[in-house]
Amino acid sequence: MADNPLFDRLRKQAPLISVGVLTADLMCLGDQLKLLEDAGIKLVHFDVMDGCFCPMTTVGPPFIKAVKTPLLKDVHLMIDDPLPKLEGYIAAGADLLTVNVESCTHLHRALQIIGQARNVNKPDRGILRGVSLNPATPIEVIRPILDEIELVLLLAVNPGWGGQKFIDNVHQKFIALQQMLRQAGKDVLVCIDGGVKKTNVGDIAAIGADIIVSGSAVFDGKTPFENAKFMLEAMNEVRRHKAGN
Ligand code: DX5
Ligand code: ZN
Repeated sequence: MADNPLFDRLRKQAPLISVGVLTADLMCLGDQLKLLEDAGIKLVHFDVMDGCFCPMTTVGPPFIKAVKTPLLKDVHLMIDDPLPKLEGYIAAGADLLTVNVESCTHLHRALQIIGQARNVNKPDRGILRGVSLNPATPIEVIRPILDEIELVLLLAVNPGWGGQKFIDNVHQKFIALQQMLRQAGKDVLVCIDGGVKKTNVGDIAAIGADIIVSGSAVFDGKTPFENAKFMLEAMNEVRRHKAGN
């Protein structure tokens, strides 16, 4: 864990919902993000896919830069060889920048670059360094870089599309990760991404996830505001429960 004001803020506010925009209506994205902000959402999640590391191609730095929002930009890179492309995402305004470990030969160096970068939205905020693990990747791979990250993202689907089913054994992986972090004495935010619906968001928050990504269950083409409110209420429920204990 680094001395990072953004980390401290998110640690205090957790559990949080980060809304994925893959299935949003791009014709009115600005209005919809404003609605989410009014609902109480703090983070917007950009899934960057290159058609190589994972099957679909989505957005890149120009799109992320063009989204003018006070929401924190949570950028998830599912692309081959992200290292030489990091500068573009930093310049586009990433507040959280996560790379998939399987895609990155020089992971440590990539995290050093993010750690030394200036946050273009607010220089004193810093950028959170995240690593993401595919469902089949064991958590052990991140042990050597625990000093270089503020966030671990566990994918609960195989990266590629929104709207997939949550892979249940991510639950065990999450518990094992918490144990590993505890034993190592590291305070790292843990994020669960993929397959989060209204039906399971409460359970995911209850096991202790700090950030929960939800895309298609919020941007369902109908009622994003109400869906976001539902997800946030599930977070409040967990806070009330914790406060009561
Ligand atoms: C994996 C992505 C996820 C996912 C979220 O493909 O990293 O962010 O698309 O979308 P939903 O919430 O629809 O599973
Ligand atoms: Zn994602």
